[in-house]
Amino acid sequence: MGESVLITGGAGFIGSHLAGAIVQRGGRVVAYDNLFTGCPENLIDFKDQVKLVHGDILDLSFLIRTMMSERVERIIHTAALVSYGPSIEKPALTAKINIEGTINVLEAARIVGVGRVMDVGSEQAYGEFQHDPADEDHPLSPTVPYAITKMAAEKFEEFYHRLFGLDVVIVRTSWVYGPGLPRPRAPKTMIENSLKGLPTTMESGADQRTDHTYIDDFIQGALLALDAKNPENRVFHIASGKAYTYEEMAGMVERIIPGPKITVGPGLLRQSATVEGQQKGALDIRRAQSQLGYRPRYDLYDGLVKYTQVLKSKGFS
Ligand SMILES: NC(=O)c1ccc[n+]([C@@H]2O[C@H](COP(=O)([O-])OP(=O)(O)OC[C@H]3O[C@@H](n4cnc5c(N)ncnc54)[C@H](O)[C@@H]3O)[C@@H](O)[C@H]2O)c1
Repeated sequence: MGESVLITGGAGFIGSHLAGAIVQRGGRVVAYDNLFTGCPENLIDFKDQVKLVHGDILDLSFLIRTMMSERVERIIHTAALVSYGPSIEKPALTAKINIEGTINVLEAARIVGVGRVMDVGSEQAYGEFQHDPADEDHPLSPTVPYAITKMAAEKFEEFYHRLFGLDVVIVRTSWVYGPGLPRPRAPKTMIENSLKGLPTTMESGADQRTDHTYIDDFIQGALLALDAKNPENRVFHIASGKAYTYEEMAGMVERIIPGPKITVGPGLLRQSATVEGQQKGALDIRRAQSQLGYRPRYDLYDGLVKYTQVLKSKGFS
């Protein structure tokens, strides 16, 4: 029987794709999720091989009991309150789940004695990019609650690694897109509208440079990081390594699905009416390339083509 991996947030977007990939290589997956944004349908293709446990990372004793009864060997931590806008409206709840919840995962891992904990970090922790591309040593300067909690989670992971020797690896990524994304986001909204024959209007973002990572590339890199033996570094960028503006993205979607017009307003992308946009850029992926052998396969255009094909194959119109 394969290795037992517990994925917090295993019924979510990234968690369910990771679950599928681990099952495909012969592992057993426990998807530990309170179904806040995740849903069992995300796991439908491998429902016989994935055990979905309805649990909350804020419930430390249930998390520990689950890990012990399922003989969990490694943990992938993806459970979080992810949205940028709602985190501004609910900073305390965001901090509770993303920071206290992460501490619980680390504490459970330490008590049970699991082999490795891998967390999914975010480029949002950098705030505005001071240079482009940004490498993993770029200063962390988050400015909104979601981003602040992602930085804090990483700091606690460093602490557990330093103090208790917990084997922690962080895969910091950019804007991941692909089938199953639960939130409105530019590639999803543009492609879904265009497939329905509808126009898309974004108020801002024509000058916003952002790295967008296709889900399959993220999964490839995350599994390499999960398996890396005694890595020299503990933080890896798993991203596309290239940045494009939303205007460029709109042009690509218009080429892939001709007809519907996509309009992007000027300036930086404003994700919230109350917070100014921040210039981003590409994530430097050379560390993951040299240490993990990570090779992203999807430039943005290729990823958008693949995403469109998958949606069409599932009958989306
Ligand atoms: N999607 C991206 O572009 C992106 C980019 C950078 C980092 N990340 C990080 O990747 C991780 C996963 O993001 P996602 O896009 O898959 O989001 P998602 O919302 O699809 O997944 C999060 C999952 O966590 C679950 N969850 C939330 N609170 C929980 C709790 N208290 N206990 C147990 N489960 C809980 C949700 O039900 C959901 O299934 C997050 O840590 C996020 O910060 C995502």
